[in-house]
Amino acid sequence: MKALFFTCIAIISQIVLQAQNSVIPLPRNFSQSEEIVYFDPSAVLFQGALLRAEALLLAHELNTSFGFRLPSVIEVPSRQFIPEGPKIKLSMIRSDSIVQPGTYWLNSDKTGTTITAIDNLGIFYGIQSLLQLIRKNGNRAELNATQIKGDYPNFRYRGMHLDVCRHFFPVSFVKKYIDLLAIHKMNYFHWHLTEDQGWRIEIKKYPKLTEVGAWRNGSMVGPYSDQKFDSIRYGGFYTQEEIKEVVKYAAERHIQVIPEIEMPGHALAALAAYPQYSCTGGPFEVAKGWGVYDDVFCPKEETFSFLEDVLDEVCELFPGQYIHIGGDECPKTRWKTCTSCQKRIKEQGLKDEHELQSYFIQRIEKYLNSKGKKIIGWDEILEGGLAPNATVMSWRGTEGGIAAAKQNHDVIMTPGSHCYFDHYQGKKEQEPHAIGGFTPLEKVFEFQPIPKELGMEQSKHIIGAQANVWTEYITTESHAEYMVIPRISALAEVLWTGPGQSSYKDFKKRLAPMLLRLEEKGYNYRKLD
Ligand code: ACM
Ligand code: ZN
Repeated sequence: MKALFFTCIAIISQIVLQAQNSVIPLPRNFSQSEEIVYFDPSAVLFQGALLRAEALLLAHELNTSFGFRLPSVIEVPSRQFIPEGPKIKLSMIRSDSIVQPGTYWLNSDKTGTTITAIDNLGIFYGIQSLLQLIRKNGNRAELNATQIKGDYPNFRYRGMHLDVCRHFFPVSFVKKYIDLLAIHKMNYFHWHLTEDQGWRIEIKKYPKLTEVGAWRNGSMVGPYSDQKFDSIRYGGFYTQEEIKEVVKYAAERHIQVIPEIEMPGHALAALAAYPQYSCTGGPFEVAKGWGVYDDVFCPKEETFSFLEDVLDEVCELFPGQYIHIGGDECPKTRWKTCTSCQKRIKEQGLKDEHELQSYFIQRIEKYLNSKGKKIIGWDEILEGGLAPNATVMSWRGTEGGIAAAKQNHDVIMTPGSHCYFDHYQGKKEQEPHAIGGFTPLEKVFEFQPIPKELGMEQSKHIIGAQANVWTEYITTESHAEYMVIPRISALAEVLWTGPGQSSYKDFKKRLAPMLLRLEEKGYNYRKLD
């Protein structure tokens, strides 16, 4: 009996300990005491009319995540007396000092719980921290007395990518994925929408892109080395209405969606629909197998007109500043023997096919810049000369990123060594089949986005990092979640808190309750070692 009593105490104190300081990413200027405070979750008060959306979001979470009755959302004019009793309040303030966008202050004591910020973004991030601190106690919301005296992100680009081409994921999953980003205070969702194996975005002017390009007559099954295929028709795409719905959903969570429209390579699905934009004229099939294909867009005038039309519709759908144009893994095989390509090389005074690729990217960049957009490309866009305003995603290690930063270009780090979440995260024999690599949780946690090779000024061009989730071997939603969680938590800590600002031991302690919360929300994840 006595032993049971002590076991119970131990379990209770464990839960209390877990509930304390369990925020990921770790906020800066964070302190907490043993004192338990509570607030009344029947109402969310807000000061500053612009905060209604954030107040509604918090009310929704209190209802869905904790089971409180949906709180009323009440605007309180700034001088108005706030009724007695511990309440939760969101408050927008003006600041005379320079404060980074997204900064928030959180104070929770027996008088109540207040999140303060200079912008909606800060209030949103404060809410994300609060939701990780509170517990339900009867009809009251309880937490340890907490002070966060100004928390803000270390990097301004904190991203996650998802390949919906090798395997397709419906809007409901894309939203669930965006929720996961929001919980981790990530602010960019890179949506990889076109590929050899499927074109996934409706383009009204070119209906065959989805009528033909969104479907393949079979898929590779098992490891690449087996070269086995089924003959099951596979595919799917997002209508423009669905795209708008996702963009709006993300914006409400302060996340910008970056569409990726691949060119000049990884374009076989588009060419299956419109073979006239290739070098040979086709015919082509949407690819069944993974890998890299020789048939790519031919840089002729008709192709540029086609791509500009496509990008016109893409720009209308995605209001954010960035469009990702791919640029990776483009074999030059067809261009070498294509009369049109060779004629253009001569006419433009280009040295070789690498310079032709650079010409291609620079033309597209110029077009997108004229529409007020900035391009992002994989690090191959360095070859043959970088387009003047491009941001580079460094994936083949960090070398491309270093070279681009030295040329004063912005860089997003996403090296295979630390940021490829399609890689193994444990012993190969104990994991589902993956593309290769080995990127366990601790390795992600130890990631240093700023390479030592860069000086102070050049380092400013490393705007952040991103993890990529390629789905050749990820066929289901629960498998995608397994690959992402908990590695996303480690990456979020690197990008928000900053590399080396917390210990791995402390991070793992905070991770256990995070995983329980995610489990309650219906996410699958890889268990901790
Ligand atoms: C890439 O992984 N091909 C960017
Ligand atoms: Zn050609």
